Amino acid sequence: MIADKNKLIHAFGALAELGQEITVRSGFPETMRTSLHLISGSLGIMRGGITKFSRFAHELNMVAARGLGDEFPLAMSLCEEDERQFLANGLYPIEVDQARVLPFFQVYSSSLDKRNIRLFVPLVIHDEMVGGLFLGDKATGESYTSYDKDVICAMGRHIGVAISQRNLLEELERRAEENRKLYDELHTTYTDTVRAFAAAIDCKDKYTEGHSVRVGKYSEIIAQELGWTQDEIEGAAVAGYLHDVGKLTVDRRIINAPYRINAKESAELNKHPGVGYEILLPIQHPFTDVPLAAKYHHERLDGRGYPEGLYDKQIPYIAKVVNLADSFDAMTTDRPYRHRRPANEVIEDLTRNSGKQFAPELVSAFLKGMYREITGQSKEKRFRRLLGREYMEAETIFPSLSNALNETAPQPVTVLSLD
Ligand SMILES: [Fe+2]
Ligand SMILES: [Fe+2]
Repeated sequence: MIADKNKLIHAFGALAELGQEITVRSGFPETMRTSLHLISGSLGIMRGGITKFSRFAHELNMVAARGLGDEFPLAMSLCEEDERQFLANGLYPIEVDQARVLPFFQVYSSSLDKRNIRLFVPLVIHDEMVGGLFLGDKATGESYTSYDKDVICAMGRHIGVAISQRNLLEELERRAEENRKLYDELHTTYTDTVRAFAAAIDCKDKYTEGHSVRVGKYSEIIAQELGWTQDEIEGAAVAGYLHDVGKLTVDRRIINAPYRINAKESAELNKHPGVGYEILLPIQHPFTDVPLAAKYHHERLDGRGYPEGLYDKQIPYIAKVVNLADSFDAMTTDRPYRHRRPANEVIEDLTRNSGKQFAPELVSAFLKGMYREITGQSKEKRFRRLLGREYMEAETIFPSLSNALNETAPQPVTVLSLD
């Protein structure tokens, strides 16, 4: 009686430890090894093994073994009949000797007998077979009592729950991975579509070939220089790519006019921000500001822009970013009625209009990016790629950038000396 009581205390102590082991986020193989150790230790069992059921392969795969030797199979397949019987049996020890009729015990009889496996416990959790527990004979040679079997059931349930949790976790990880891949694919499709659209917009305007694509890239540079997050940077790029989408509805002759257009033509052209907004608004963009950038990219801080003549704070920030990118590209590319302007002039123009047309901190961030590139502080060749090497190597660019940064920078930057 006392011996039984001691055994009981020992077994429940083991059970408590097992529960803790399973709750603690230790590695799964380690949890299985400890569980087997605890179960055999508390009942004085010499050999045993825990298997995890793979429902795709219909196999029991060994995850922890003790005293089974090298020859004991690491994977054991189950036929339909076995699975059905184990499920019907539920989480209760099956005496191997009394279950010889089942195909499983016939197929693996020699391995089971060689290691004196006495009990097999199907680990059935929520009507699902998640694994199986093999237990050899007890060190004392005695047969298993019903009390032993109760302890085995309780411990088996803990092990089964741990396997089941592991399966759920694996399933979750698999789904998360699938979702991530799906998202990446969608994301690529979205970006490709946006770029294709930008190219389509640019096709219409033969004199400003590549304008939308460049405005996208300049907007991206400004966002990077402002220290925006990756998503925000991408949003700025998309806003730039699509800012002139409304031009698709403007007469090609007006867009391509090789002269300064008249007031009527200009009024027609000036509809493009509003039209762009209408086109972009019904589309679900991952970045909410895209339609606003199209609508307000011709607004100016001083209220002299169009279509609404908004003032500084009334203009959505993204539209200010695109406005700067757009104006910069207009100044630095050839137009039908004029050549592109030299870099120093463009820089001076941006500085002069800082606070009037452009947001000062944007001008300063943009020029700082350019400055870092020409002084080699940044290894990226973002501007060089868009403007050409020759343009960026003009002698006047460095002094005008230094001046501009000293004038516009909210905090003075360290200006390098060239010699
Ligand atoms: Fe525009
Ligand atoms: Fe534009």
